[in-house]
Amino acid sequence: IPSTILMIAVAYLCGSLSSAIVICRLFRLPDPRTTGSGNPGATNVYRSGGRIPAALVLVMDILKGTVPVYVSYWMGLDPVALGFIAIAACVGHIFPLYFGFKGGKAVATAFGTLLPIGFSLAGLLILTWLTVVFIWGYSSLAAIVAVCLAPIFTWFIKPIYTFPVAMLAILIVARHRANILRLIKGEESKIWDKRGRLK
Ligand code: G3P
Repeated sequence: IPSTILMIAVAYLCGSLSSAIVICRLFRLPDPRTTGSGNPGATNVYRSGGRIPAALVLVMDILKGTVPVYVSYWMGLDPVALGFIAIAACVGHIFPLYFGFKGGKAVATAFGTLLPIGFSLAGLLILTWLTVVFIWGYSSLAAIVAVCLAPIFTWFIKPIYTFPVAMLAILIVARHRANILRLIKGEESKIWDKRGRLK
C-alpha cells in the first residue's frame, strides 16, 4: 500500500509536466491554451507549430504515462494499483500542478499508460485512431472512438485490466465534451482533409 500511494503521487507529478506548454516555450510558440482549440496537446501544437513540435509533445506525453506505470509494474504492484497509477498520470495531465491546473485531454498520456499491457493493444489503438482520422479527419473523434474501444480490446488481450481501462476511457470521453458538441454542430476543426493534405 505505501508503495502504491508513493507511485500514485509520482504518476500525478509526471503527468503534471505539460509537454505542450514546455515545448511551445522552447520553440517560442504561443501558449497552446491560447490558440486553436485551447488544448495543451499534440494536436493543437500541430496547429500552431507543425510536425516537429507536435511529435515531441506526443512522445513526451506518452512517456510520462508509460514510465510511472512501467516502474510500478516492475516493483510488483498489482493490477488494481497499476490502474490507479495510470489514472493519476492522466489526472496530472488534465489538472497539472505546475501550470495552474489547466491541462489537456490525456489521450497521449493514457495511451502511454496502456503500452505496458502490450504491443497488440497499442497496435489496435493506433490502427483505430489512424482509420478514423483517415476517413473523417478529426483527431478528437479518433481519440474518442479509440478510447471507447480500448476496454473491449483489453477484455480480449488482458481481461484483468478491463476495469481500469474503462475508467480511463470515461475520464477521457468526459474531457472531450467541448469537442463532442463541436462535432455535433459540424464545427470541429480537421487535421487532415480529403484533398489529401495534412492541415
Ligand atoms: O488529443 C486531443 C484531441 O483528442 C483533441 O484535441 O485540440 O482538437 O481539442 P483538440
